[in-house]
Amino acid sequence: MRALWFVPLALWLPAVGEVQNPRTSAADIAAGAKTFRSHCAPCHGYDGTGGLGPNLAAGRFYHGSTDEDLFNNISNGIAGTEMPGLFYSADRVWQIVAYVRSLNGAAQTAPPGDPKRGEALFASKGCSRCHRVDGKGGAMGPDLSQIGASRSAAYLRESIVKPDAEVSPRYWRVSFEDGQGRKVQGFLLNEDTYTVQLIAMNGALESYDRAGLKDFTIDKRSAMPSYGGLSSQELDDLVAYLWSLRPGRGSK
Ligand code: HEC
Ligand code: HEC
Repeated sequence: MRALWFVPLALWLPAVGEVQNPRTSAADIAAGAKTFRSHCAPCHGYDGTGGLGPNLAAGRFYHGSTDEDLFNNISNGIAGTEMPGLFYSADRVWQIVAYVRSLNGAAQTAPPGDPKRGEALFASKGCSRCHRVDGKGGAMGPDLSQIGASRSAAYLRESIVKPDAEVSPRYWRVSFEDGQGRKVQGFLLNEDTYTVQLIAMNGALESYDRAGLKDFTIDKRSAMPSYGGLSSQELDDLVAYLWSLRPGRGSK
C-alpha cells in the first residue's frame, strides 16, 4: 500500500506549497483598495503606479511575485528598505494582495513624448554626468537602467522638476570637517562608534574617524539640480525615455 500513498503525495506537493489567496471577491478587492489608499498610497501612489515606493501596477515584482511573496512582503515589510511591515490580520493583508493583483497591467500605456529625443536630451542636459544607464554615466545619482519598471510617468516628471519632493535617505547628504580640518560631503552609508562611512559625490567609498569630526550636518534636500526650465516638450521626451528603461528592452 505504500506505493499508493507516495504517488499522490508527490503529486500534491507543488499544490500544497503554493499558497492561494483566500480573499479575492469584489468586496475583498474594494476593502483592500481602502486600506491601500490610507496606508500604501503615500509611498506607492494613489493608483499604485509608484512614488517613493515602486510601481505595483506593472505586474512585475522584484521581491517575489507569488501570492505568498506578496503576502509576506506586505505583512513583514522588506528588511533594509523603506518598505514597512503592516500589523494586520491575515484576512486584511490578503485583501490588499487581491487589490494589488487587480492593478496588474494598469497604467501600461506609454506616456506622450519621444524616447529617442529624450535619450539625446539625457546626454545634452547633463543627466548622464550623474546617472548611469546600462553602465554608462556618472555614479552620484541612482542607476536609472530600469527606472521605468518601478516609477510612474508622473513620478519621473516630478523627479526632474522638483527633485526635493521625495529624496530617499540613501541620498541625504552629510557634511562635516574631519580631524585635519578638511570639509567633507557625501551620502551617509553607515556609522558606528568609531567611524563614519560615506559615499563621496564621485561614488567612492570613504571612511572617517569619528574622533575630531566637527560641524556634522545632514541635508535632506536632493543633490540633483531642478530642471524646471525645460520646455514641456523636452520634459515629455525625457519622461518617455526614462519610462522606456526597463529590463529586457531591445539591444543597448
Ligand atoms: C514608507 C513608504 C512605504 C509604504 C508606506 C509602503 N511601502 Fe511598499 N515599498 C516601499 C519601498 C521603498 C519598496 C521597495 C523596496 C526595495 O526594493 O528597495 C516597497 C516595496 C513593496 C513591495 C514589493 C515590490 C516588489 O517589486 O517586489 C510591495 C508588494 C509593496 N511595497 C506593497 C506595499 C503595500 C501593499 C503597502 C501598504 C500596506 C506598502 N507597500 C506601504 C515603500 C513603502
Ligand atoms: C548633479 C547630479 C545630478 C544631475 C545632473 C541629475 N541628477 Fe537626477 N538625481 C541625482 C541624485 C543625487 C538623485 C537622488 C536624490 C533624489 O531623489 O533627488 C537623483 C534622482 C533622480 C531621479 C529619481 C530616481 C528614483 O529612483 O527615484 C530621476 C528620475 C532623475 N534623477 C533623473 C534625472 C534627469 C532626467 C536628469 C537630467 C535632466 C538628472 N536626473 C540630472 C543627481 C543628479
